[in-house]
Amino acid sequence: MMKEFKRFTVTSALPYTNGPVHIGHIAGAYLPADIYVRYLRSNGKDVAFICGSDEHGVPITIKAQTEQVSPQEVVDKYHKIIGDSFKDLGISFDIFSRTTNKIHHETASAFFKTLYDSNVFEERETEQYYDEQAGKYLADRYIVGTCPKCANDKAYGDQCEKCGSTLDPTDLINPVSAITGTKPILRKTKNWYLPLDKWQEKLEHYIESHPEWKSNVLGQCRSWLKDGLQGRAMTRDMEWGVKVPVVGAEGKVLYVWFDAPIGYISATKELSLQNEKFKDWEKYWKDEETKLVHFIGKDNIVFHCIIFPAMLMAHGDYILADAVPANEFLNLEGDKISTSRNWAIWANEYVVNFPDKQDVLRYVLTSIAPETKDSEFTWKDFQARNNNELASILGNFVNRVMVLTHKFFDGKVPDSTGCSDLEETITQQKNTISTSIESFRFREAQAELMNIARVGNKLLTEKEPWKTFKENPKETGTVLYDCLQIIANFAILCEPFMPFTSKKLIKQLNLESISWSWVDAGRQDLVPANHVLNASEILFERIEDKIIDYEIEKLHASKNIALNNVPPPKEEISYESFEKMDIRTGVILEAKKVEKADKLLELKVDLGFEIRTVVSGIAAYFKPEELLNKKVSVLVNLAPRKIRGIESKGMILLAENKDGRLIFVNNEDESSLGSIIK
Ligand code: MF3
Ligand code: ZN
Repeated sequence: MMKEFKRFTVTSALPYTNGPVHIGHIAGAYLPADIYVRYLRSNGKDVAFICGSDEHGVPITIKAQTEQVSPQEVVDKYHKIIGDSFKDLGISFDIFSRTTNKIHHETASAFFKTLYDSNVFEERETEQYYDEQAGKYLADRYIVGTCPKCANDKAYGDQCEKCGSTLDPTDLINPVSAITGTKPILRKTKNWYLPLDKWQEKLEHYIESHPEWKSNVLGQCRSWLKDGLQGRAMTRDMEWGVKVPVVGAEGKVLYVWFDAPIGYISATKELSLQNEKFKDWEKYWKDEETKLVHFIGKDNIVFHCIIFPAMLMAHGDYILADAVPANEFLNLEGDKISTSRNWAIWANEYVVNFPDKQDVLRYVLTSIAPETKDSEFTWKDFQARNNNELASILGNFVNRVMVLTHKFFDGKVPDSTGCSDLEETITQQKNTISTSIESFRFREAQAELMNIARVGNKLLTEKEPWKTFKENPKETGTVLYDCLQIIANFAILCEPFMPFTSKKLIKQLNLESISWSWVDAGRQDLVPANHVLNASEILFERIEDKIIDYEIEKLHASKNIALNNVPPPKEEISYESFEKMDIRTGVILEAKKVEKADKLLELKVDLGFEIRTVVSGIAAYFKPEELLNKKVSVLVNLAPRKIRGIESKGMILLAENKDGRLIFVNNEDESSLGSIIK
């Protein structure tokens, strides 16, 4: 069972605000953390669930450059989008702060100053890459080159995402500037280094005192330690970030990986000002009886297990993480999730496209969570898990019980105490779920949860209460009574995983006024005899093929945009602007070649109220006779134009296929999704 800690501080990696979050992020660092925290809360534990956005660093300034806006505008935009996504998916942070807040700048600055004043840093003058054209030093992601360890030619100045190595810009082979694409020169500059080598032994001791950590985490840490730790610069020659609070550091900011994890602390401080319950923030960070847990993705392991702990050790006031349950990566439809190739399912789009299906995503992402190795999301699997597991096993069970109780007992819980072994079965299942959650095995925990619904289904199938009612209504009552207890137990135990479903179940049971917690699970009298239930509602709709096919097509289409196969969307227009266009249906009556013009056809289009002449540049794609009697959309209020002496009044609207040929849009065609209608 759980080692007794007095309280818990649970953090999820602060997401970079250079774009929305996608399902890989959710499955990696947010959903598992939320399940863990909800479980702790249900157990009455004192827990602070901390997150916020990581708003400094090169990813932000690069995004600002591509979007042609200020870094502040970038972080404001994505802080809101990301925060809303978390809320919509039921990720229940106690605070979602941001590292551009004043309290964070002060906290990070003071942290640096403490280390500086106790002579922790080494001041080093080194040669750093400098982009002469941009007039900037090239830190971290501002520089790209070949990884010296694995030969990946898209490694960044701070890290190779392929092999996970942490790098220095000068380690890169053939470095180029990510700003201008030019070859940088070396130029002298001064920075402050954290001599990680001085904490080598202490860090080894720390890591080895946690043999229970996941093997992927221990593996990365040990390989780091084996290579021997080296000093790492904690400051950067950049404008955007937390100013380095010492004299002679003008034009320098804290390294983003120095300030960001301190963000966990600043966010907790901020929380203490907002919420009475957390008013003593220090105990969440400085008391040995607090269990600190970091949920992250595997690319964050060294920062959370080596660098941040070294910073905390150097500072001296803080506790170290007791667990760092890092996840591997989630792939999508056979390929790595990639922001630049737009190969992703974005959380903010999912919640719009699937309103009311938050728990379906939560359920699927937990079922396939990349806990021990990379795993894969596919839309077909999403559909299958919804239809065959959530709808067929869980939804169907609940529905049958509710309907039968309404039918035979007027919607009242039968007067019974049930049959005897239910308590034992459910208590055992609950214990399995608890143990799995406490050891961060959420897939396993959720699988056991679903077994509870299976127990219910089995009971129904074996006892067939609808058949016994005539001869033995008491027997029917006993079975339904037990099934209702199973539903209530399920509502408690599913809350960490599927909080929206838990609420719906409690509503159907008409027990919203009672607040159960984990200790109640296992009881066989949760829903009392004669209690009146609410009407039953469908919990999970089946998801049809056409919805899934549409999502798959859309995924491929958005990749086309990223790969420049189709142009990006034009600037947004108002409804009034749209309304100005008069688009009507027409039918092509005649078509003939325009003399001495290879590309043009002269068409006569019947609009019902008049026949128009339209000259169209489609001769390369259609023979005139192919067009006869074709229906087509026509923009009729386009200003007339004389083309080769013929007055063209209007424009017919066609789409492009994958080869750039113009075609009519209909359901059978092969027009490329996202191609422009012209
Ligand atoms: N922004 C980082 C990322 O997305 C994570 C920062 S975690 C923190 O990879 F500890 F630094 F906050
Ligand atoms: Zn590499």
